[in-house]
Amino acid sequence: MIDKTEIERIKQVIVEKLSSIHTLKRVQKINQLVDEIAGQEERETESLSSEEQVVTPWVVSGKIDHDKVIEKFGCKRIDESLIDRVERLTSRRAHVFLRRGFFYAHRDLDKILDCYESGKKFYLYTGRGPSSESLHLGHLIPFLFTKYLQEAFKVPLVIQITDDEKKIWKKLDKEETKRLGRENVKDIIACGFDASNTFIFSSYATVGGKFYENVVEIADCITVNKANSTFGFTGEASTAKMIFPSVQAAPSFSSSFPHKLFPDEKKNIPCLIPCAIDQDPYFRLTRDVAPRLDFIKPALIESKFFPALRASGNNGKMSASDANSAIYINDSAADIKKKINSAVTGGRDNLEDQKKYGANLKEDIPFQYLSFFLEDDAELEHIKKEYGEGRMTTGDVKKRLVQVVTEIVERHRMARAAVTDEMVDAFMTPRPLFE
Ligand code: TYM
Repeated sequence: MIDKTEIERIKQVIVEKLSSIHTLKRVQKINQLVDEIAGQEERETESLSSEEQVVTPWVVSGKIDHDKVIEKFGCKRIDESLIDRVERLTSRRAHVFLRRGFFYAHRDLDKILDCYESGKKFYLYTGRGPSSESLHLGHLIPFLFTKYLQEAFKVPLVIQITDDEKKIWKKLDKEETKRLGRENVKDIIACGFDASNTFIFSSYATVGGKFYENVVEIADCITVNKANSTFGFTGEASTAKMIFPSVQAAPSFSSSFPHKLFPDEKKNIPCLIPCAIDQDPYFRLTRDVAPRLDFIKPALIESKFFPALRASGNNGKMSASDANSAIYINDSAADIKKKINSAVTGGRDNLEDQKKYGANLKEDIPFQYLSFFLEDDAELEHIKKEYGEGRMTTGDVKKRLVQVVTEIVERHRMARAAVTDEMVDAFMTPRPLFE
């Protein structure tokens, strides 16, 4: 195998020679080929991917083929035997998001299960980039799922609030991202995390000390070429964008937490990261760097993208700039009804055709939402059959969805109303978690 420094040197020469006459995409492709030829273990590019689908931590658009995404990213599909193993080890039924294939991809989940089975601890790490006052239903998904993982495995959890990320990418005012971060923390706490075993932290408030030492170690392993090929940065990207991936990477390594969060003797504690597939590029890079720093590669459990209400097909990031594309946790019952009623459906244009052909469930956003949030398997199966075969109308399905979502949002609203500033401070105070 060619030495890594040599690979980077070769790439640098190629990029310098070709970047003026070739498109960025082609340069990235060349980088990827050099890495493949050199036998790099993990595939690192493709966050930009093809013309028709874009999956990056900042843009998810086009018609997303989730199978193709994992193939391109190089993750593994979660199969039945892995789900059975999770159920066996936790002695409880798998979460509905896992059972229904919504959390569908992983990296090294089997190793985390081995570690758990042998009596060793691991910790969970997830996060939120605060760009809006409130979370939407898509954001809620990894948090609800993380809560299940925390309860099932009884492990500590760290949650990063990347107020810095939203300043860098969304050009939001720094003080505003901090304020939004605190508001979002209330939504996160309202999901019901174990207060004694969860540490929530903002990047701005935490990057320093041992955490910063790790950021620098990580950043020092990532060349500009590597960052460009992973994230599609161009020459215009600010250097803040270059450093941020290391800030999101650092919490994957337990030694980043200095504040007696993790006991000293457990410096290298394995980490499992629940998130949607859009975050994979950050952690591919993190996993690539880990062995060079003698850290354990973080494991991942990744979900599909919950579709926007008004985009057609299985696609797209819900957008804070199009409030109607998503249901927010602070929406009123009237807003929820209005938004669901305007969702894209797979129902036919008139009742006669609906009865004759049934709905196209793959294109039907209300049905997809029900398949995430309606817990009753038998009722979901009934709706699938009746709606798919034309005996139920789009109006019936939307009505049921309005009930289900209103109930979830109402429950969340009540839980959030009970979250006090003192509770936020308590969750955000560093303290030992492994006790
Ligand atoms: P953010 O704030 O964009 O999203 C927060 C979490 O929600 C997931 N997500 C979705 N999941 C399903 N369907 C959707 N439509 C949808 N939209 C967003 C994201 O994958 C994420 O898990 N850079 C991150 C913050 C972060 C982080 C992390 C996330 C820092 N460290 C570790 C996960 C794990 C961000 O801006 O997420």
